[in-house]
Amino acid sequence: MTKAGLFLTFEGIDGSGKSSQARMLAEHLRGLGHDVVLTREPGGSAGAEEIRSLVLEGDPDRWSAETEILLFTAARRDHLERTIRPALAEGKVVICDRFADSTRMYQGLSRGDLRGLVDQLHDLMIGREPDMTVLIDMDPETGLSRAKGRQGTEERFEDFGLALQQQMRAGFLALADEYSDRFRVVDGNRDMDSVAQDVTDIVLQALR
Ligand code: TYD
Repeated sequence: MTKAGLFLTFEGIDGSGKSSQARMLAEHLRGLGHDVVLTREPGGSAGAEEIRSLVLEGDPDRWSAETEILLFTAARRDHLERTIRPALAEGKVVICDRFADSTRMYQGLSRGDLRGLVDQLHDLMIGREPDMTVLIDMDPETGLSRAKGRQGTEERFEDFGLALQQQMRAGFLALADEYSDRFRVVDGNRDMDSVAQDVTDIVLQALR
């Protein structure tokens, strides 16, 4: 058992299967006796869940990119203060479905180059990177058709279409190179169990 706590994040394009992988990993680690907190962004604390509906529902042009950066960062700050930091301090494994890398991609790249702004605000208000990030890499078209197959109201980003998916996929792979010390890339274009096996191997190695 780890005493210092371990902060793991999952990233990937919409429909990459990362949420299922995060859930499966959490169950697996609990079965091995680890104390696991499974959480997600935007959200993961009461206040951040309220911000979630503001950013994920409504018209695609509801917010400017700059306003979105502020909203996602505000949600993240609350999540960090109330959920992530306390759990890590108690030595738990925190598994988070999306974190700051999603803001670097979605708000930092999709509507002009705002990556510098995202990073500045991150340094100022968050200042914490995950210990390890698992990128579930996925073909953009498959991801999009999976994401569209889900009925729901959280569609602001899915409405942006295939071009966005392609841009985000390339961006995530570039980010994995940029932060190669903490990123692990897993091929998501396979059945869920094979992907889960790779994820488990990677994470158990990190826990040792
Ligand atoms: P998520 O709930 O992970 O959806 P999915 O399970 O379909 O991948 O994320 C919802 C959307 O929020 C997703 O389209 C990406 C977007 N998002 C951002 O744009 N910026 C962020 O910082 C985060 C955390 C998410």
